[in-house]
Amino acid sequence: MINYTEKIPNNVDLGRDRVLQRALEHWQPAYMGWWYDMGPNESHNYEVYLRTATSVEPDGWAQFGYVKMPDYRWGIFLQPRDEKREVNFGIHKGQAAWQEVPGEYRSTLRRVIVTQGDTEPASVEQQRMLGASCPSMYDLRNIFQVNVEEGRHLWAMVYLLHRYFGRDGREEAESLLARRSGDADNPRILGAFNEATPDWLAFYMFTFFTDRDGKFQLCALAESGFDPLARTCRFMLTEEAHHMFVGETGISRIIQRTCEVMKENKVEDPQDVRALGVIDLPTIQRYLNFHYSVTLDLYGSDVSSNAANYYTSGLKGRFRETKLDDDHVLADAEYPVSEVVGGKIITKNVPALTALNERLRDDYIEEIADGVGRWQRVIDNAGIPLRLTLPHKGFHREIGNFAGHFISPDGEVLSEEAWKNHEFEWLPNSKDYAYVQSLMSGRVVEPGKFANWIAPPTRGINNQPLNFEYVRFN
Ligand SMILES: [Fe+2]
Ligand SMILES: [Fe+2]
Repeated sequence: MINYTEKIPNNVDLGRDRVLQRALEHWQPAYMGWWYDMGPNESHNYEVYLRTATSVEPDGWAQFGYVKMPDYRWGIFLQPRDEKREVNFGIHKGQAAWQEVPGEYRSTLRRVIVTQGDTEPASVEQQRMLGASCPSMYDLRNIFQVNVEEGRHLWAMVYLLHRYFGRDGREEAESLLARRSGDADNPRILGAFNEATPDWLAFYMFTFFTDRDGKFQLCALAESGFDPLARTCRFMLTEEAHHMFVGETGISRIIQRTCEVMKENKVEDPQDVRALGVIDLPTIQRYLNFHYSVTLDLYGSDVSSNAANYYTSGLKGRFRETKLDDDHVLADAEYPVSEVVGGKIITKNVPALTALNERLRDDYIEEIADGVGRWQRVIDNAGIPLRLTLPHKGFHREIGNFAGHFISPDGEVLSEEAWKNHEFEWLPNSKDYAYVQSLMSGRVVEPGKFANWIAPPTRGINNQPLNFEYVRFN
């Protein structure tokens, strides 16, 4: 169970390590300062029907109740230790899992933890203005739940930095509160976390596509030979599932509403669809293309010696590493990667160790494709002949083998000019953003009411009815 009587709730027996406890208690007011500045705008007095972790056991870990978000019990929760756990891959395979940081991997591990940690506050910053245009109280509660949990994920990484990395770790923890998403001078580390999330369509896309990158990174880190990192990430994954649920169902409800309106009014042309106050399907496709492609970049270069080192050292595994049936060393294995040669996309095998970013990206794409398939069924069920498609992996990429090439969504290698001629058929254009923004002119907060452009969900949170008062504004 988690000890909530302490200033910092935790299940790591924090009270036994006074120095660490004091360091974290020193960081806590800085975190609260960040939350007041960069957390959800104007939300500090709202009482929100949130879940809070009460136990890290798979059953019954969450408790629901009204909480003012600044009073949310952010804390440090790790999956319980398995005394028999080993390093399961790389050159240290078979050793007991490390409970302390191996000296030779110290700076690498710190970089991995900081990079993951930096994404957590970034997304809160990206989403902070969206409360003002929420499509319902249910959705407002959901975005706040995502925000407080991203805050907790920051706590999770900061605990590791403070506990295992001494002064360097404490400095990194401060920098995590100093960078700002989209800031010209001190931006967040990764590209997608500096993009704006200007509207709720972008928010749902972000939680579907980009939070799922988070899931895959956490899954790979949950395999780490550094046991505290693995156990931290395991518990973060239980929270991440809800974020992706919010994204997938959010887009699904938008599609459902659009299809209903198209059928009722017998319209197909996007302009006619927009005239009825819902989001036309081609705009949804363009948002999808954007969020998918910027998220693919987060996995890094297709061929990467860093990725090979992380794996060989036992720091970062593959997706479901221990379920894979091979030697977990990958000395002789190969893996296919694509590149552009002479105006054509070719695929060639490279040493699997160097292709681990690409492999994780492919695992991600498989799961994304399933989700997009579920959105497609909503369109098919309405009898509307439109196909949502995932663009080619090389489309609109800035990192890896496709960077600097101009690939169409169909996977054709184009000249820059040809690509530019179609850019805004494929990616959201200023009119798309302006139209979607026009739908976000105010918030819908009467219990049980939903904005015209989105269907209600099939059920409420924690079995509450749809007209439940999920947020009290005071
Ligand atoms: Fe997160
Ligand atoms: Fe998340």
